[in-house]
Amino acid sequence: MRLLVIGRSGQLARALDLRRAGAARTRFAGRERVDLMVPGQAREAIEAERPDLVINAAAYTAVDDAETEREAAFRINGAAVGEIAAAAAAVGAALIQISTDYVFDGAKPGAYVETDPVDPVNAYGASKRAGERAALEGNARTVVLRTSWLYSPWGRNFVLTMLRLARDHDRLRIVDDQHGNPTSALDLADACLAIAGDLVGRPADSPLWGLYHYAGRGTCSWADFAAAIFEQTGQRGAPGPAIERVASADYPTKAPRPANSALDCARFEAAFGVKTAPWRQALARVLELIAKGDGA
Ligand SMILES: NC(=O)c1ccc[n+]([C@@H]2O[C@H](COP(=O)([O-])OP(=O)(O)OC[C@H]3O[C@@H](n4cnc5c(N)ncnc54)[C@H](OP(=O)(O)O)[C@@H]3O)[C@@H](O)[C@H]2O)c1
Repeated sequence: MRLLVIGRSGQLARALDLRRAGAARTRFAGRERVDLMVPGQAREAIEAERPDLVINAAAYTAVDDAETEREAAFRINGAAVGEIAAAAAAVGAALIQISTDYVFDGAKPGAYVETDPVDPVNAYGASKRAGERAALEGNARTVVLRTSWLYSPWGRNFVLTMLRLARDHDRLRIVDDQHGNPTSALDLADACLAIAGDLVGRPADSPLWGLYHYAGRGTCSWADFAAAIFEQTGQRGAPGPAIERVASADYPTKAPRPANSALDCARFEAAFGVKTAPWRQALARVLELIAKGDGA
């Protein structure tokens, strides 16, 4: 199997690099080769590599900046995804496109399923929704995986931010009225690789193509997530700061966030026979990697 990953330095791309099976020939196209702001570059890479499967691990992910850089967010997360999808279709490649829980407005009391209506509350969510459509319309052999609250030993994410802040703060104010599913980028990478074999060679009329939710199992608030991080690092003897639970209104950000973006992943588990991992267990595995110095 020939696999082409768009992106090289992001959390998911690095996780795919760490976890990729030796059997698949995997190429990574970083921004120096495929700048998604530049029309044509993704198509050229896909035509040159002629992969069986493209995983798009690149995205405009700066949620707050997207409010003022809408054009770039929509170009990278929307139009460029359409180009990737069309180019993949043209060489007979399947596509895994990654999307976000932020396509939802957060008003639902329970976990969101794939058929729930979307209504993004910020520009990032709207641009990712545009990408979902572009992927599904551009290539009939597409799986869109919506994920949430991604973290890993690398890059910018909540876990690394908490560990950094803990070094010189005794007390942290953390939002307690937004709920979601923390998801390890390593688990998401494993899920992509686990379904890759199922996708390659599967005809376009298979009912397996389409939209799925994939996230860590179980829901929490950001404050709960922080508490779990410090509870687990505390077991290794690292003192954690006290957590002051605050409301989103006390911690204003440029982009509003949905109050609840919990994802129900039953459809993914049933279709592919891949279980999602309980988020606290996944967190323990990532903290282990960070403790071993495998982080950035
Ligand atoms: N992070 C989350 O909490 C979260 C939650 C839900 C869904 N997601 C989705 O999950 C996927 C993976 O996210 P992630 O956290 O791994 O992202 P990330 O760590 O922020 O990495 C994003 C990657 O996109 C690349 N990129 C940005 N602009 C580009 C451009 N113009 N051309 C080419 N590459 C560009 C970046 O390259 P450089 O390193 O060169 O800048 C980086 O490698 C994305 O689709 C994201 O929307 C993320």
